Amino acid sequence: MIVAVPKETAPNERRVALVPETVEKLVKAGIGVRVQRGAGERAAFPDPEYEHAGASLADDPASLSSGADVVATVGRPDDAVLRAMRPGATLVGLLAPLGDPAYVESLAKTRISALAMEMIPRITRAQPMDALSSQSNIAGYKAVLLAATALPKFFPMLTTAAGTIPPAKVFVIGAGVAGLQAIATARRLGAVVNAYDARAVVKEQVQSLGATFVEFDLGIDAQAAGGYAKELSPEQIARQQALMAETIAKNDVVITTAAVPGKRAPLLIAQSAVAAMKFGSVIVDLAAETGGNCALTVRDQVITTGNGVTIIGTTNLPSTMPYHASRLYSRNVHALLTSLIKDGALALDPDDEIVRGALLIRDGVVGEQA
Ligand code: NAI
Repeated sequence: MIVAVPKETAPNERRVALVPETVEKLVKAGIGVRVQRGAGERAAFPDPEYEHAGASLADDPASLSSGADVVATVGRPDDAVLRAMRPGATLVGLLAPLGDPAYVESLAKTRISALAMEMIPRITRAQPMDALSSQSNIAGYKAVLLAATALPKFFPMLTTAAGTIPPAKVFVIGAGVAGLQAIATARRLGAVVNAYDARAVVKEQVQSLGATFVEFDLGIDAQAAGGYAKELSPEQIARQQALMAETIAKNDVVITTAAVPGKRAPLLIAQSAVAAMKFGSVIVDLAAETGGNCALTVRDQVITTGNGVTIIGTTNLPSTMPYHASRLYSRNVHALLTSLIKDGALALDPDDEIVRGALLIRDGVVGEQA
């Protein structure tokens, strides 16, 4: 069995699907690994480390994926990689299938099978494969670093000979994986942290990290199946905006992470709420990729409003920490592959809950998940 790892080609993508540590494990297990030359360089994994781990290097996408049984990617693969895959080979990656059936149809034409890492069910057995969590964790951490850099203030309280500096106040909206890491990181930097989520169940997790859980009475609990939030109605979102505006205005930094899988991110910060913030405040909108939680967010840009509020809409933050993002993602892919390999080949057992959740296409046939 051969696993191929192409160089990612999306703009701003610095991660690589498998790092040398994982390559070594696969090779020891009798699996051949082929890596496109330079695939890991932008994540600080140079080619000699892959060779040392037992991989062979390929010069171009065609020689890389032709004859491979599995092609492992971070994001959607380049056409040249897909075209060279043999029918029946399996693509594994963060393929962003939700809401994009046309992409899944186009993949199916190549008669391959495809597993979407983000569709792996969040069951206990699949935790080591949970790429959404491993990458969101990084995004939450980095969001706080960006906020701390943009804020014209200290985060911690300081007592100095020149007087005392009060701690920064940080408000985190959405306390899922990214939000909880943002809370923990902001606390480590010494900020006073408040957090809110439409799922009341996270209150204790927020408090255990030393933050205050702010409650806004929406009259419902947004907890849905699988631990995710339900999409709220426009009236409920409007009510949230109104209730949250006062808290937003009191904080120096607002980090938003609210998301509903497969839907546009809920719009939680209206223009009027930004207008009420103090000059110099910072918003980091981690939902920028799915439309933004703030009405003024511009995807992939950092803007400053007329009243001096910096709004950071940078997407793909995990790629800005590519070494550890790749390392964790690589372990997720390794855990998935090892759970699927039976007698030296990839077995896509339809009775396996993980396969049922993640398999978008089997030998060119689109499944229900897409
Ligand atoms: P996500 O990225 O889909 O959403 C982020 C957060 O936004 C969620 O906590 C959600 O409740 C919140 N949100 C959505 N709409 C909102 C609104 N209108 N106002 C305020 N907040 C809103 O979620 P993520 O971080 O991927 O995971 C969410 C949950 O999934 C976790 O907290 C956990 O319960 C569950 N999970 C379970 C795992 C497991 O059992 N293996 C692994 C990871 C997550």
